[in-house]
Amino acid sequence: MNPSQIKLVQESFAKVAPISEQAAVIFYDRLFEVAPAVRAMFPDDMKEQRKNLMATLAVVVNGLSNFESILPAASALAKRHVNYGAKAEHYPVVGGALLWTLEKGLGGAWTPEVASAWTAAYGTLSGFMISEAYGKPQAAE
Ligand code: HEM
Repeated sequence: MNPSQIKLVQESFAKVAPISEQAAVIFYDRLFEVAPAVRAMFPDDMKEQRKNLMATLAVVVNGLSNFESILPAASALAKRHVNYGAKAEHYPVVGGALLWTLEKGLGGAWTPEVASAWTAAYGTLSGFMISEAYGKPQAAE
């Protein structure tokens, strides 16, 4: 990610922050619509979960300018997710629901540049989490 992409992610996330509760509702509704099988992995009452997700996203978004600083927490988060039953193939599904939510929340502010900045941010985070939790794929030679 380049500095201007980091700025785009941070500025666009700030626009969603005032509606973060609502954004989290949209996110989980979308996730459970596209991947109904993962609903059972989550608690019935999603209130705490919604808060946790948005708080963690805020930490990650703020940490993008100093990505190394969030790696230990992201690694621990990834390893906890193995116990939640998360699999590597779930990460793109979650990423899709996240981008979809941001698109809804941002409306006209969801430009192609903002979209590609978020795609890069989620790709960097999820790639790191997947390799911490499930190991790095073998390089093909
Ligand atoms: C970058 C991607 C993700 C982020 C930032 C994230 C964030 C979080 C956070 C902050 C929690 C609260 C508990 C904790 O801190 O350990 C959590 C719980 C959970 N996440 Fe994720 N998550 C991500 C990806 C995923 C994926 C791919 C799945 C797979 C379906 C998933 C399923 C769950 C489940 C099942 C729980 C636990 C619910 C419970 O038992 O309380 N998450 N996630």
